[in-house]
Amino acid sequence: MNSRSETRSRELRARAVELTPGGVHSNVRLTSPSVFFDRGKGAWLWDADGNDYVDYLLGQGPNFLGHAHDEVITAVESAMRRGGVFGSQHVLENEAGELFLDSIGWAERVRFGVSGTEADQAALRLARAATGRTRFVRFEGHYHGWLDNVLIKTVDGVTGPASEGQLAHHLDDSIVLGFNDPVALARAFDEHGGEIAAVILEPMMCNSGAIPPENGYLQRVRELCTEHGAVLIFDEVITGFRLTLGGAAERFGVTPDLAVYGKAMAGGWPVSALAGRADVMDRFAAGVNHSGTFNSSVPACAAVTAALTVLRRDAPYQRVEEHGARLIDGIRKLGVDHDLPLRVQGLPMAFHVGFGDPAPVIDAAGLGRLDLKRYADLVPVLVDHGIWVAPRGIWYVSAAHGDSELAAVLERLDAALSAGGRR
Ligand SMILES: Cc1ncc(COP(=O)(O)O)c(C=O)c1O
Repeated sequence: MNSRSETRSRELRARAVELTPGGVHSNVRLTSPSVFFDRGKGAWLWDADGNDYVDYLLGQGPNFLGHAHDEVITAVESAMRRGGVFGSQHVLENEAGELFLDSIGWAERVRFGVSGTEADQAALRLARAATGRTRFVRFEGHYHGWLDNVLIKTVDGVTGPASEGQLAHHLDDSIVLGFNDPVALARAFDEHGGEIAAVILEPMMCNSGAIPPENGYLQRVRELCTEHGAVLIFDEVITGFRLTLGGAAERFGVTPDLAVYGKAMAGGWPVSALAGRADVMDRFAAGVNHSGTFNSSVPACAAVTAALTVLRRDAPYQRVEEHGARLIDGIRKLGVDHDLPLRVQGLPMAFHVGFGDPAPVIDAAGLGRLDLKRYADLVPVLVDHGIWVAPRGIWYVSAAHGDSELAAVLERLDAALSAGGRR
């Protein structure tokens, strides 16, 4: 597998860096090996040189149904023949909205958008309008998009901007706490309760590690928000339609006031959503602006309806969970066989692989004590062996992963660890 050809990818890369900064269109991709893919189907990818990869990154999450799902393609294709955007409503919107709200179960209203980043901003604006307060609480290691008021980096316990050119004072409105620490949140409310419009969090932290909430944590966050009149926002961009149909809210049994969705909701199509309580959401029709040329476009609504129809009909969650559990066991066993401190943490449908102490970590500080670089250094070897994953350690399982993918990935991982596990 190390003899894979890379000629075409290298040529494409050489041209790409002349066309676009770093040769990539999203900075997240700067750290991954530069592979140019030609196509994907199900749980597999093929690059421009014809090499195959079993895919456990799924485009950073959206391809929960697998790549190029036939029913999603057919629905989008036929919808697009009737036009794409009209600057008005169209006949597919209500069906998508009904299916969406019925699937998540708790919310009364939904607005569709294009990216998770903008839906997070809409949620924060709405929370401020609803409370008349300005600040919000968020958590180390959680990601809510790349804009100035939410992009952070924490180094040695100090949090600040994560990008050159970022307006640091935009972070003044946020209070950054450690995840899974209910005492710190209670203290923040005691000290700043009258200023806090919202608490926003990934209900399971998936952008740094794959760290579920500790027992009772989300319940306590809910109680504190209710007690202090703050809006609770779940950022379910990763967890929505992945942890189960109703996302983290359903899986952990805690209902937010607002929640943001993206990724798995539309079979790989770029769609996001903000959903929530009617009394908060209806402010969008009474003074709070949320706009977007491509919001609820025809193909977006067709993709949402098709993807949710498949998810509700096929109910793949049990299967995904079983696949993930077997894969986690297999990875741990290979770690033992190769005498490597390989550790896996998370849930079967979204887990984190790294090197270090196997004891569970519960926050970003704990994650920082693992040897994350050693795993990042292993990723090019995994990619050379036909496993597509990202350096930050997250692995996503899709409804398209089955026994043959499991056998393939474990065989390839075994070979990769023999080749590069000790680097
Ligand atoms: C939890 C979370 N929120 C927000 C975003 C931003 O979404 P997008 O990349 O669609 O703007 C992401 C993206 O990975 C995410 O994981």
